[in-house]
Amino acid sequence: MNTTTQSQEAPPPIRAIIVGMGDRASIYSSVALTNPEHLEIVGVVDVNPERVRQAQLMFDLPDEHCFSTVEELLEKPRLADAIINCTMDRLHVETSLPLLRHGYDMLLEKPYALNDTEGQLLIDCVRETGRKLMVCHVLRYTPFYRAIRRVLATGAVGDVINIHMANQVGYLHESVSFVRGKYAREEICGSGMLLTKCSHDLDIMSWLMGGIAPVSISSVGGVFQFKESNAPEGAGTHCLNNCPLERECPFSARRLYIEYPLRWANNVWHDTHSNPATDAEKEKILRQEDNPFSRCVYRCDISIVDHQSVLIHFRDGSTGTFSMNGGASTPRRIIHITGTRGEIYGDFEEECFHVRQMEPSAPGGYTERTLDMSDFQQGDAHGGGDRSIVLDFVALLRGERTSPGCPTLEDSIIGHRMVFRAEESRMQGGTMLPF
Ligand SMILES: NC(=O)c1ccc[n+]([C@@H]2O[C@H](COP(=O)([O-])OP(=O)(O)OC[C@H]3O[C@@H](n4cnc5c(N)ncnc54)[C@H](O)[C@@H]3O)[C@@H](O)[C@H]2O)c1
Repeated sequence: MNTTTQSQEAPPPIRAIIVGMGDRASIYSSVALTNPEHLEIVGVVDVNPERVRQAQLMFDLPDEHCFSTVEELLEKPRLADAIINCTMDRLHVETSLPLLRHGYDMLLEKPYALNDTEGQLLIDCVRETGRKLMVCHVLRYTPFYRAIRRVLATGAVGDVINIHMANQVGYLHESVSFVRGKYAREEICGSGMLLTKCSHDLDIMSWLMGGIAPVSISSVGGVFQFKESNAPEGAGTHCLNNCPLERECPFSARRLYIEYPLRWANNVWHDTHSNPATDAEKEKILRQEDNPFSRCVYRCDISIVDHQSVLIHFRDGSTGTFSMNGGASTPRRIIHITGTRGEIYGDFEEECFHVRQMEPSAPGGYTERTLDMSDFQQGDAHGGGDRSIVLDFVALLRGERTSPGCPTLEDSIIGHRMVFRAEESRMQGGTMLPF
């Protein structure tokens, strides 16, 4: 009787502390509100008192569980099962090591490290402490990529000869985040563009290749568009204060962040001020000389690249090609896999992909079926991946069955190393480097 009752009892929610209560942490931690049976947020660490206050209100946290630094949290005995670490890239390893050693398991934002040397410190720490660490590769949880992986596994398109992926970073996102925003300079964010924006894509490539490791990698890239020499003749330095071309420029801060506020403008108002109520207030803020979001996109002095291509040679002789194009007219993630018996072609934003198979008797010599994922890709900007990864993290900590794509640290190493090597190659002008 007792045994039956015990086996039917639901496990308690996983208790977690947020470290870095920014955009990403707000998304992940909201699972505690929708699924309190799985996740409970019991504390917060953030250097920004306003963010701490937001978390305190959101999760009804006691003052003694609110901290402004990781060091303060570490002064206490372990207060929770896990940490949700959503600090910016350059802080990931620095903040994770002492927290893991203190006994916390961790859901860590990508990239797990800035380079191989730093990454090895984290890998060693996880191996030594035996802690569980998952990296936020949310795209692995999307119905789109999962379905592609399943089709590959059936052998429907034969053996992979080439896998081509492209990440078209739309001009709205590119300008607000990577040109004017917090990712524009490596010394602030910690990562370059490939690592911060495309570690997902190379992780997906590695995941789809099913453990076939690369043997060599090369990469080239640079700044093509967002540089001073491309500023149109007569353009000012500041959209609202001194630019006569403002009305015709697709990057006009007034057009992007006041007139069409439902696109990426939230990043502006979230990062600088808490949502001004009127357009006049927004204009006043954007007119401030030091406001980063009204700078001319051609004069932002970015240190990251705005386009990059990567070439990968895999151990079985197949190849991978990846390109990131920043400032594209539409955001897109495109994938085209060519196999010995067919091909898969898909567009993540269109939420469907096509499987074509060789068939001499069919019109054109091939059959085609389209797999529409639109009914399944719901919930958030990552096709439902943001919520699913948190629930999988809970399952991992409870010792329950996790999803086949569960991105533990060990499982994320190849994808990250592909980025690290590609960046080394780009710095050396595109030299083919051994993996
Ligand atoms: N998985 C994804 O799809 C995805 C998407 C976007 C961003 N990211 C990654 O998520 C991470 C966070 O991005 P974000 O947009 O939420 O950033 P954010 O700037 O909104 O949040 C970072 C938070 O960390 C806080 N912080 C800074 N220093 C700190 C410290 N020493 N200790 C504790 N808190 C500190 C900041 O005050 C801020 O609240 C980045 O690494 C980014 O690359 C991942």
